[in-house]
Amino acid sequence: MIIPCILDRYAKMMRELLERYQIKDMSSWDGVNADLVITDPPFGIKFDGKGGNYNRDVDNVVDGYVEWDVKEYAEKIRGLLDCITNNTKDDGQALIFSGWNNSNLIHNEIIKSAELSLRGKLYWAYNFAPACKLRPAHNIYEIFWVTKGKTWHYHNRCSTLHCTAGEPNLTTLIFKRDYKMNMPKYPTRLPFKLIQSLLEHFSNEEDLIFDPLCGSGMVGVVSYMLKRDFIMGDLNENGKVVFRHLLDYYL
Ligand SMILES: C[S@@+](CC[C@H](N)C(=O)[O-])C[C@H]1O[C@@H](n2cnc3c(N)ncnc32)[C@H](O)[C@@H]1O
Repeated sequence: MIIPCILDRYAKMMRELLERYQIKDMSSWDGVNADLVITDPPFGIKFDGKGGNYNRDVDNVVDGYVEWDVKEYAEKIRGLLDCITNNTKDDGQALIFSGWNNSNLIHNEIIKSAELSLRGKLYWAYNFAPACKLRPAHNIYEIFWVTKGKTWHYHNRCSTLHCTAGEPNLTTLIFKRDYKMNMPKYPTRLPFKLIQSLLEHFSNEEDLIFDPLCGSGMVGVVSYMLKRDFIMGDLNENGKVVFRHLLDYYL
């Protein structure tokens, strides 16, 4: 029977992909040996994505997002940098996202790191901001580009509108958030095209991509779609629920 056979294959593939999302603390990874880390730490602003100032239906947003207190932020970032150091190849690279509020702390900790070097900073400009009544909206993320060794790997062009419709550069990436209807939502899910652009610029097919703070697991979804291998984790079990829905959507 052809249809049961296809369904069995799909179920097996889903099981294998779900196993690559592990519920664990970033500090408990060891020896992953990734080519590239793409990761997006909590913001340190008492964020849970459910505030009334966000333009979304709160009922669809999953619980369990683990935020970092600003008092412990520098220490947590040191932990993240250790995680990156211990889990990348000798010539590995990392792209670390940051909202604007505490990006100075991330910058300072990278500069102090003996193992990692800051190679540059990119900006992601996006189309969503909290509905600000008192001041203008501020739609920028910073992305710190970090390498473990003395060299870096970088492709000049990607296949998204970032390079096909504009002058290729790595200063500003302009991508809209891609909202999905009728499925559980993760508070800070990164858009597909943004991750695609970063993967195409900073990695090759079959590379191993790692995200120790993966939330919805979007880094894994796009890695898989672009023929990269991936492994990732989060403390929030609900992130894995969103990941399963995203896999169903994209596959
Ligand atoms: C900004 S979100 C990541 C969102 C993700 N990039 C996406 O596209 O969905 C940061 C994540 O870090 C997780 N987190 C916080 N502390 C952690 C820790 N010590 N170990 C693992 N995950 C942690 C949070 O639960 C949250 O899901």
